[in-house]
Amino acid sequence: MRQGKVLVLHGPNLNLLGSRQPEIYGYDTLEDVNNLLREKAVMAGCDITCLQSNHEGELIDAIHAARLDSTQAIIINPAAYTHTSVAILDALNAFDGKVIEVHLSNVHKREAFRHHSYVSLRADGVIAGLGVQGYCAALEAVLLSLAK
Ligand code: DQA
Repeated sequence: MRQGKVLVLHGPNLNLLGSRQPEIYGYDTLEDVNNLLREKAVMAGCDITCLQSNHEGELIDAIHAARLDSTQAIIINPAAYTHTSVAILDALNAFDGKVIEVHLSNVHKREAFRHHSYVSLRADGVIAGLGVQGYCAALEAVLLSLAK
């Protein structure tokens, strides 16, 4: 039996992972990250969908769809929308499941404009600065909470 349904959302520019400022974001590609998460989810018998978009509306549409398809948790790296998007916050506020916010870099060690997150006003947990490991920690936390 499948244990849970999880949506992983990656925001703008994360399609360039591996080649975009690797000194900050690392050398793993987005495909590497998604494959790692899919592998862990399959082992746990969990349905996982990974989506990256450079468009705010597409991320919002995916959150709306998650309200209706029995998704229990969203792991989201909103990237730059973290710091700007009231619309993504509003969409997440309309989602009843667990929300974990992930950042590859430690946003608090960086420019002041990265210190504020709209999404954190909704997130049940926030992980920053652990690189790809942060996504794995988020998925583990979600799987643990779904097993309860
Ligand atoms: C990021 C941090 C954001 O400030 C930045 O705009 C990103 C990636 C991270 O994963 O560290 O695109 O969310």
